[in-house]
Amino acid sequence: MISRLDKILADSGLGTRSSVRDLIKSGRVKINHTPEKNPGRKVNTDKDEIEVNGEIITFQEKVYYMLNKPAGVITATEDKKQKTVLDLIDDRKRRDIFPVGRLDKDTVGLLLITNDGILAHRLLAPGKHVEKKYFVRVDKEITEEIARDIRSGVDIGDETLTAPAKLDVGTGGREAEIIITEGRYHQIKRMFEAFGLSVIYLKRLSMGSLILDENLEEGRWRYLTEDEIEKL
Ligand code: URA
Repeated sequence: MISRLDKILADSGLGTRSSVRDLIKSGRVKINHTPEKNPGRKVNTDKDEIEVNGEIITFQEKVYYMLNKPAGVITATEDKKQKTVLDLIDDRKRRDIFPVGRLDKDTVGLLLITNDGILAHRLLAPGKHVEKKYFVRVDKEITEEIARDIRSGVDIGDETLTAPAKLDVGTGGREAEIIITEGRYHQIKRMFEAFGLSVIYLKRLSMGSLILDENLEEGRWRYLTEDEIEKL
């Protein structure tokens, strides 16, 4: 792959684009044993050897997949008996990939799959409060009172209440869009169960800036666009 030196170093986890530019300008980066101070220098990762502070960088190309997860597959990298979400990524480029976060076996919708550990960490870190939006259908009416409690925080048997959620209940009262910023085990199901409601359908619609492509059928994947990667 041919790419700019600063992009390669940033993608390799050596820092932000601007901090790796400073690193390059300081003269501590060499290409094929010669110091290179131009951040925009084009590098061929298959041929050129990049050294930072005397250490050779092994570059791993990053891949990003959007999967519309179907029901019936588990969010894991491998399993002896059950089909996993990675079994659905039938791409020759796939290597060392993993799902970012977890959806239950019966949950459908947006799942980001990548080999970019830094991005995954950023999206999942509790302190980042990344918003996850879901469409949910339950078996009984979400009353105004229940909605108010869900919006302020629910006791789901953990040490602390759930963080305030955004909840938009549809007409009929049994369907809603809910946005949560945490990722506790079975969180949404437990939030409704706390009021005696069962979740009968759950679909993730977005995660941070990444929105499920509605043209993507369940069970299908596509690469993220440059724009989607940049925004994440
Ligand atoms: N909350 C749940 O209960 N299940 C999911 O799969 C995701 C969020």
